[in-house]
Amino acid sequence: MKISRDLVLGIGLFIIIMILASSILIENNLQRTKFLISSFGMISLLGLIFVLIIPVLYSKFPSTLTSSLLSNRKWIGLNVFVFALIHVMLVQLNYFNFNISAILNNPRFPGLFAGMIAFTSLMILAITSYDGIIRRLGKIWKPIHRVLSYLAAAVLIVHLWINGGFWAGNMLVKILITAVIIGIISYKILNLNINIKKQDE
Ligand code: HEM
Repeated sequence: MKISRDLVLGIGLFIIIMILASSILIENNLQRTKFLISSFGMISLLGLIFVLIIPVLYSKFPSTLTSSLLSNRKWIGLNVFVFALIHVMLVQLNYFNFNISAILNNPRFPGLFAGMIAFTSLMILAITSYDGIIRRLGKIWKPIHRVLSYLAAAVLIVHLWINGGFWAGNMLVKILITAVIIGIISYKILNLNINIKKQDE
């Protein structure tokens, strides 16, 4: 099975429509808002984890499917950014009204700050994914993308533990997601070390 760019973008749109449609079934306004905010946040986080796992999947199970996932990573990443953008916009509109001091004075500010670092990283990743910018950045494009995507995943652990309370209200969900992210980062660091050693030999 081969994945195309249009299929990836279509799936992204389908997820957005499904979340919006499901929210209509919730009668309580506050619960509906929490559902929408948390669902877009959670789907963005899971999408980011998936994007980071794709190269591992490809190296362990090379196939048409995994190679087409690898070549469409940019578009899956774009979906992840759009989900995060909707999450952040809903948070701003419903909780903070774009008021910076309300964010600074929030008792859960450390978690929100972690979310802001993750969002800024995803935004830079999305902006620098245009072919023209990739060409202009040349050799530094790959390290920039690698560092920012792993940084986003790492700080989202903090965001999840401090701000998570809906899908992530369950301790098991928090522990599972944290373990997966730590696993991916450790695997990457180990692999980098092995590659550096191979180059030295
Ligand atoms: C890459 C960017 C981000 C991602 C992937 C993300 C992801 C998440 C996740 C997974 C949750 C937990 C949802 C749950 O409990 O089921 C969450 C909750 C939350 N996030 Fe984010 N977040 C991001 C950025 C931000 C930013 C920049 C802010 C605000 C400054 C923010 C504010 C919140 C708030 C207030 C909650 C709690 C929602 C509630 O319980 O109603 N997030 N986010």
